[in-house]
Amino acid sequence: MGSLSTDLRASTAVLTLDLPGEPVNKLNAEVKAELEQTFARLAADPAVRAVVLISGKADVFIAGADIEEFTRLATREEFERLSREGQEMIQRVADFPKPVVAAIHGACLGGGLELALACHYRICTDHPKTQLGLPEVQLGLLPAAGGCQRLPRLIGLSAALGIILPGRSEPGPRAYRLGLVDELVPRSILLDVALQAAERLARDGLPRRKPRGSLLLDRNMLGRRLVYWKARRDTLRKSGGHYPAPLAALEAVRVGLERGARAGYLVEQRKFGELAVGKVSRNLVRIFFATTALKKDDGVPPGTPALRVARLGVLGSGFMGAGIAGTAVAQAEVDVRLKDTDLQRVGRGLKAATDILQGRLQRRRITRYEYERLAALLSGGADYAGFRTVDLVIEAVFEDLAVKRAVLAETEQVIRPEAIFATNTSTIPIAEIAAGARRPERVLGMHFFSPVDRMPLLEVIPTERTAPEAVATAVQFGRKLGKTVIVVRDRPGFWVNRILLPYMAEAGHLLAEGVPVEVIDRVMTRFGFPVGPITLLDEVGIDVAAKAAQVMHGAFGDRLRPAAVLGTMIAAERFGRKNGRGFYRYHQGQKTGVDETVYDLLGLRPVKPASTERIEQRMVYAMLNEAAMAVGEGVVRQPRDGDLGAIFGIGYPPFRGGPLRYLDELGPANVVRVLRELAAAHGPRFAPCETLVRMAEAGETFYRD
Ligand code: NAI
Repeated sequence: MGSLSTDLRASTAVLTLDLPGEPVNKLNAEVKAELEQTFARLAADPAVRAVVLISGKADVFIAGADIEEFTRLATREEFERLSREGQEMIQRVADFPKPVVAAIHGACLGGGLELALACHYRICTDHPKTQLGLPEVQLGLLPAAGGCQRLPRLIGLSAALGIILPGRSEPGPRAYRLGLVDELVPRSILLDVALQAAERLARDGLPRRKPRGSLLLDRNMLGRRLVYWKARRDTLRKSGGHYPAPLAALEAVRVGLERGARAGYLVEQRKFGELAVGKVSRNLVRIFFATTALKKDDGVPPGTPALRVARLGVLGSGFMGAGIAGTAVAQAEVDVRLKDTDLQRVGRGLKAATDILQGRLQRRRITRYEYERLAALLSGGADYAGFRTVDLVIEAVFEDLAVKRAVLAETEQVIRPEAIFATNTSTIPIAEIAAGARRPERVLGMHFFSPVDRMPLLEVIPTERTAPEAVATAVQFGRKLGKTVIVVRDRPGFWVNRILLPYMAEAGHLLAEGVPVEVIDRVMTRFGFPVGPITLLDEVGIDVAAKAAQVMHGAFGDRLRPAAVLGTMIAAERFGRKNGRGFYRYHQGQKTGVDETVYDLLGLRPVKPASTERIEQRMVYAMLNEAAMAVGEGVVRQPRDGDLGAIFGIGYPPFRGGPLRYLDELGPANVVRVLRELAAAHGPRFAPCETLVRMAEAGETFYRD
């Protein structure tokens, strides 16, 4: 108790929701009970003519249901009841005999928006922190407290599906244009405007809203049929049929509109129960918790101090350096000094970094004023001027040990002794770069993924000599850049490339055996990857991939021998998308289909295989085996980090929970059996690793839950 406070202003009760001891407001059993009691009291209080519901948190209205509560429920019936009780509580707000105005600033999501939708009038702020949405499907669920009924009735069918099916959030101004809120105001006057509206509604009655949505599509039955059909088709196309939640939500919306809200509520309840106990939602909820837990874990003993990074130095203004610099100003708003060997390159790097800001300006994520202010944080030069005052240096020069060592030595001469030096090498052991360092305790790896501004993962790699303070600094700064950060061991390939390369190599072997390019890619997109391995080769650059493959081969021997096809492609100057010639053809930057000439080049006659089951198994199991082996070597600190790294680093299908979770689900003993079969048929590279064999014998899994 004690989340809600009531304050009477004239004849309007202002209800302020502020969960004690929590950073955000969320709907849990106590809050719901308190809301019910408070509304019952206000209904009976003759001094109260209207109610304003507002949040006491800085930037959150209500962030949604309390997902922790879900973990305490087990059966379908329990989840159905949760949905029904939520619907009933919210319905009582809708039926409240006096006008209720929602005054929204900050996140208004999930159950929070469903509650706001039941209020009689909504006002939100135009602040960028204000976001209204129904993200339930992102957790494999559907809005099940009436959201699938109220939203389409308020803003029209098509617009509602545009929010519910992808689990989108809309910023204030767009929410206003959609009719999701009745008024849009600056934050400073939110409460005053809400009070005025409350008095007006109490005096003049509730507003009459015009029906929204197109007359042709949303407001007649034949049109709606077309909308349902298209939504279903697009959803299936996007989800590959792996995610049941959007289709369940579509069903709840359809039944509600065609057969009445009562029927719709029942579908919401039933589907919620079904989905919540299903595998997909459970994996997505686990990922949500794992990501939250990782945000509080610096990979070093708690309480380790971290340097506050106010000034960043970036060495090398190429593709990665410019991406890091641009992301740093855009996300962390730090001063960035960029250095390269000559001013032309510095200029190009500064331009590329500014382009990241430009992109955000165009997408209206920042204002023109913010753009100018952030762009002014970027500067550069061909010497170390400005490096004396940096707190952290990120090096992204050529992938060459001698160059990286020389650059580290030069930098150590200029920077303050407490400043930290991070290298963004993708393949060189950090310890080798740090070998001759004056202050090896301040040297570590920060491995970004390209494009830096869009890829959500960062690997932080300490050596045995790196001080915990340096690790904490890199992790916290990585988070300020908006990244999910995992701390991994200094082993070849770190984590992500370690598990990715055997999988890519297997794709190469399959190709060399005559499996067509598009079959290999399609098998893996069907498995749930966003792109297939051959497309990925083209994207990464065949030369870059081959170089990484060489390093892994050197480190792990024949098990990771790269497929010969890569060498042939490079000799023919087919590097992938970047020079418009790879396994696929490109026209004006767009992929247009497989370049059939690769088969002649590689001396292959592609044959469509009768079954793709083995093909999938070979690629998937190559990765699983490597992942288990790397976990055995302590490359990741715990399976959680490995799974999140795979999901955010290479797009491992989230509904499968990550490679280690998937391995648990298949059962280590089964995986060992299949790997032995594969080894017998295709060679010893498939021999199950020791970790897996041991786990299989002991009946262990990576996770306990
Ligand atoms: P790039 O070739 O685009 O950029 C390298 C830049 O470093 C060039 O502008 C070059 O002039 C500059 N440079 C060379 N020596 C220098 C020195 N002594 N002082 C200052 N600048 C110097 O290469 P890219 O792709 O940006 O890669 C940089 C690093 O990032 C490499 O270590 C690479 O392995 C790593 N990396 C690359 C990824 C990718 O997808 N391209 C992904 C993750 C890491």
